[in-house]
Amino acid sequence: MFTIFVSQIIKAIQMKILIKNIKEIIEVDDKSRLKVSGKDMKDLQTMEHAYLITDGEWIASYGLMENLEQDSHYKDISETIDATGKMLFPSFVDSHTHLVYAGSREIEYGDKIRGLSYEEIAKRGGGILNSAKLLHNTSEDDLYAQALVRINDIIAMGTGAVEIKSGYGLSLEDELKMLRVIRRLKENTPITIKANFLGAHAVPAEYKGKQLAYVDMVINEMLPKVAEEKLADFVDVFCDKGFFTVDETDRILAKAAEYGLRPKIHANELDYSGGIQVGVKYNALSVDHLEFTGDTEIEVLLKSETMPTMLPGAAFFLGMVYGPARKMIDAGLPLALASDFNPGSSPSGNMQLIVAMGCVKYKMLPEEVIYATTINTAYAMGVSDELGSIAVGKRANFWLSKPMPTYQYLPYSYGDNKVDTVFLNGKRINK
Ligand code: NIG
Ligand code: FE
Repeated sequence: MFTIFVSQIIKAIQMKILIKNIKEIIEVDDKSRLKVSGKDMKDLQTMEHAYLITDGEWIASYGLMENLEQDSHYKDISETIDATGKMLFPSFVDSHTHLVYAGSREIEYGDKIRGLSYEEIAKRGGGILNSAKLLHNTSEDDLYAQALVRINDIIAMGTGAVEIKSGYGLSLEDELKMLRVIRRLKENTPITIKANFLGAHAVPAEYKGKQLAYVDMVINEMLPKVAEEKLADFVDVFCDKGFFTVDETDRILAKAAEYGLRPKIHANELDYSGGIQVGVKYNALSVDHLEFTGDTEIEVLLKSETMPTMLPGAAFFLGMVYGPARKMIDAGLPLALASDFNPGSSPSGNMQLIVAMGCVKYKMLPEEVIYATTINTAYAMGVSDELGSIAVGKRANFWLSKPMPTYQYLPYSYGDNKVDTVFLNGKRINK
């Protein structure tokens, strides 16, 4: 049974855990690489027959079993875990989710199967607006309880950090309600969380035909309040065909910059929307989706500090085109893969499925999908100095696998849960 003892986790006890006889530690790195790009994504460092020692919330050291006795950290150990046959992976970092939402939308799923497109469903008042209605009628406590279940589920599947967006409120009051729920999740769960304000996710029903007035409201009412209450770490806009234009995105990002909010935006999911260019113009930490990415967009990204992020779960679930991931990596770009966990286009936060999809649909190598779901998503959340690889001084967020022959088995054995034991902030939180 998977239970989180919140009080135990919040108060980090200075425990030292020794994990010994690890079959292989995956993605050992030093702290200096904040992202991995192009050819380097093929080159994954691992260490076989190894141990790892945590100290409080941090990784104190790791090394070959034969050197354990000489390790200066090998004293005052509070707990020893024998990991014979198991691999140790850094926790997944999921840099793009909408996991605070009310209810579910499996009824639209039928429409989708019958052939309606994402945009057609949205035009009928389904899609995001359907979730907005459900959220409006859900209390803050209930919304929190629903999201907490999802958080616990993704932790159990190996995720150690997650970005969560607002964007199903679409009114000042309901956007704040969502962001307060995210803040509560930050305070009460052991997973690292960043909040992204997505007021411009869709035009709400009350503003139908008055999109500009809604954008003005996002800029003049929502953004100041969100900033004043320090409820968001980032700002997002759904910059795409049928949603928000480049011009509107530009205005929102300009105002957000005044409040010090860096963009992480939805771009080029439905068309060559110009979203990548406007994101890069405002030094976005990431631009996400990118199904429609051509040579021009690749050139723009190559000259930027922005992490291109793809969401194969959404392309899979909506039966859409897959972005040119292979071409982008071969051009020298870094690439991140996230779940997009949301009730409409990707109702799963399982990052183990995302690594499998990366290999099957994007022709990425196992090494590349591992980087893409850890250090590169950590960069896309602004936390890669602390998370995303196994390095001395990094946060002790990692998981031990069930017995596994090789790390390539992770994407290969799709659909199975390979996680045996989860550690967050140096504490074992299941088993
Ligand atoms: O990332 N593309 C925009 N937003 C979400 C979908 C949200 C929904 O349909 O509820 C996405 O796919
Ligand atoms: Fe999304």
